[in-house]
Parts: sequence; structure tokens; C-alpha cells
Amino acid sequence: MDRNVIICRCQEVTYGEILDAIADGATTVDGVKKRTRAGMGLCQGKTCQRRVQQIIASQTGQKPEDVLPATYRVPVRPIRMGVIGGNKDE
Ligand code: FES
Repeated sequence: MDRNVIICRCQEVTYGEILDAIADGATTVDGVKKRTRAGMGLCQGKTCQRRVQQIIASQTGQKPEDVLPATYRVPVRPIRMGVIGGNKDE
């Protein structure tokens, strides 16, 4: 595969950048994410995470299912304190 192929469209991370991250010691999806920002875009890795997992597996000789996936965070949005306190007017 050409090093310039975009793997993470949201963050415009290329195959070559992912290979460089793996060469730098990344062996998990989170490791690649921290080095390249792949998976930090709008889709939060829904599009690229599996591909990154496959690339790590092929470069490290692991099975794709053995590569640790990225951690997810629960979506957060601001709420009024009254909602927590049970105020029915909030
Ligand atoms: S394609 Fe990678 S975060 Fe969306």
C-alpha cells in the first residue's frame, strides 16, 4: 500500500504515519492514536479503528483480534445542577 493513502479521513492520517507510529513503539490502537491522532476525529474511530488494528496486526505479526482496541469515552453534555438535585422545573 502507498504510504500516502489516507487511513483516518477525519484527521487525515496516512498509512505511512501509522507505520511510523508502529516503528516508534505503538502496539495498540490507543498507542497509534496518541502518536498520530487517528481515531480522534468526528467519527471517533468508527471508520478507521478496524483498519488501524489490521495494520498493527500485519506489522507486528499479531492476529487483528489480539490488538487492543481504542478506549471509548462516554459522550458528555452540560446539564443544570437542578436536574441533579431533582428540581422538576429544570
Ligand atoms: S476516520 Fe478516523 S476518526 Fe474518523
